[in-house]
Amino acid sequence: MPSYQARYQAHTNIALVKYWGKRNANLILPVTPSLSLTLEAFYTQTQVEFKPDWQEDRFVLNHQLQDEEATARISQFVDHFRRQADIGYGVQVTSQNFVPTAAGLASSASAYAALACACNEALNLNLSQRKLSIIARQGSGSASRSLYGGFVEWVAGEGDQSETSYSQPFAPADWDLAMVVIVVNHKAKKFSSRWAMDHTIKTSPFYSQWPDQVARDLEAIKPAILQKDLKAIGEIAEHNAMAMHALALSAKPSICYMQGESLAAIDQVQKLRQDGFLAYYTMDAGPNVKVLCPYSQAEAIRQRLSRIFPLDQLIISRPGPGPSRLEVDA
Ligand code: PMV
Repeated sequence: MPSYQARYQAHTNIALVKYWGKRNANLILPVTPSLSLTLEAFYTQTQVEFKPDWQEDRFVLNHQLQDEEATARISQFVDHFRRQADIGYGVQVTSQNFVPTAAGLASSASAYAALACACNEALNLNLSQRKLSIIARQGSGSASRSLYGGFVEWVAGEGDQSETSYSQPFAPADWDLAMVVIVVNHKAKKFSSRWAMDHTIKTSPFYSQWPDQVARDLEAIKPAILQKDLKAIGEIAEHNAMAMHALALSAKPSICYMQGESLAAIDQVQKLRQDGFLAYYTMDAGPNVKVLCPYSQAEAIRQRLSRIFPLDQLIISRPGPGPSRLEVDA
């Protein structure tokens, strides 16, 4: 009996101009474009194996067999590839996250990107990177950006046309750049980004201003990236992130991802700047704070942050690559 196997690693990404809101929830089409930086230190490794005589799918995450609900999500995603290959084989998906799962470090981004690449390879589909980013997007929006390394743009696209919303590389990030991730909390986040975006669109009185905010921020951040102007990039990213959190806060009832420690981290980053460091914060759908800075200052910044956070909660990452193929585990 033949089996079709492959194993891939994909890295997570952190948006500098955020995606917050879908215009089509089924297809995960975003209201706005977004732009991210892929990170080296956080990634998912995923192996898939398809077998003609398997009727059911199995999903093992971090060495634990997952329940029906989690497996159903994976099955639905893998269906994109089964349809392309015109097969009905069952799949075993074995995944390991080198990311604190669901702590706002976008484990779903690296997870769906790695799964998309592994399915493509195992079934010999030879889909383009663009096509993989379109499929990954339908697992989790931000996953579309994890198909590439460095700075990546996710194009919003047109209307309800799925094929027009994909990610593409914007610029390499092979310069003096890093993120110091402050892991405020390993525990699962309180509100999924999926629900929270929808709730924000429906109830925030300010949501109508968000597309213009994103357009302005993208227009300003692109030349700043090309000029490697970290001060300008940082100021735009910080403001964009806080505008996104302001939207969430203005939803009814309010969504607050920040915890006391997040605010303490923000305060420290502001003090670091007063002391001459180039350090700027961003936050996603969880309490963790990520500090964009030069790689050459990252260790000094980490030491300063260790006055209020344990060192093992402070992780330095350089910019990361796109997905890579790994040897299949026997
Ligand atoms: O891709 P999702 O559904 O996990 O949403 C990601 C949302 C943010 O991380 C807050 C922003 C972004 O652009 O990654």
